[in-house]
Amino acid sequence: MIDIQQNISLKDYNTFGIDVLAEHFVSISNTSELKEVLSQNGFPKKLILGGGSNMLLTQNQNALVIHVNLKGISVEKEDDNYVYVRAQAGENWHEFVLWSLKHNYGGLENLSLIPGNVGTAPIQNIGAYGVELKDTFVSCDAIEVDTSETTSFTNEVCNFGYRNSIFKIEAKDKYVITSVILRLTKQNHKLKIDYGAIRSELASKKIANPTIQDISKAVIAIRESKLPNPKEIGNSGSFFKNPVISSSKFEKLKENFSSIPSYPISDSEVKIPAGWLIETGGFKGKRFGNYGVHKKQALVLVNYGGAQGSDILKLSQLIQKTVLRLFDIAIEAEVNIL
Ligand code: EPU
Repeated sequence: MIDIQQNISLKDYNTFGIDVLAEHFVSISNTSELKEVLSQNGFPKKLILGGGSNMLLTQNQNALVIHVNLKGISVEKEDDNYVYVRAQAGENWHEFVLWSLKHNYGGLENLSLIPGNVGTAPIQNIGAYGVELKDTFVSCDAIEVDTSETTSFTNEVCNFGYRNSIFKIEAKDKYVITSVILRLTKQNHKLKIDYGAIRSELASKKIANPTIQDISKAVIAIRESKLPNPKEIGNSGSFFKNPVISSSKFEKLKENFSSIPSYPISDSEVKIPAGWLIETGGFKGKRFGNYGVHKKQALVLVNYGGAQGSDILKLSQLIQKTVLRLFDIAIEAEVNIL
């Protein structure tokens, strides 16, 4: 019999550290338990919880919260150049990256220290420093919430985009991802060190020919220097996505804001760092009692302890309104508001 608990605090299950209750809560550690829980009647609303690193909880959850605690890493197959590794959904992402580096498997080093679990990584196609999950992703297994049937999603079917996938659109809330298969390199690692911050970090360490382990260490140093550690200050990483605007709009904005940064996306579009828009709007480092905007990275909203999710939501809406007024750009939340 599976132990479904009542009125459990979710404070330790979300990296923002918001203290709300789950009306019903269960932690599952194998797929048969998961199927059993999914087939239980009497719980019309189910919320699937992974590492809780990409959500803002604004109220008590009137649902059955299913904590996916599937563990294990195994090699599916390998040849001289590549290894296909299966990681279960409940593995901590960064610990999995460290496991790959210990075996000298390449491809995940730029994604070091991203909070969250393996099973939620495909949902938003996690990315950092020029690399995205989709670059190594082969497929994932998922169990359908309504039928308890297992389905496999290939890279193509996942339809990955910038912080986006099928799991945010057509397949939203319909599946529980149970494991992910990634193809990692065993030799001739394809290093991505073009990102300015990585280059300067490696240069400062006088590393001319970096290994994948060197790159991971550089990424960890960069992230630690500007992103708050959720164990110390509650946060969900980037709260907003970087907006994409037309090149013509960008040219007009440049007339008033000559220092506005941008990354080219196509001939007609550019991506603007939302952190710059928010900083220019005056919010960087602003503190409102027990919550605010991180002082080193304006894209990150923080809970200094005891904040309500609804207060952080209101702050995010004030930021959105201000950015819209100043730049005529609508920035979208990256985190799920629940
Ligand atoms: N910037 C500012 N002020 C700020 C923050 C950023 O002006 O307070 C400007 C600067 O011009 C800076 C530029 O934004 O050069 C880019 O900043 P950064 O390199 O920190 O990257 P980002 O665009 O803010 C994105 C991802 C991060 C990822 C980094 C590195 C999104 C929404 N965020 O941030 O992902 O780590 O690039 O690749 O795409 C996350 O998703 O939780 C996350 C942290």
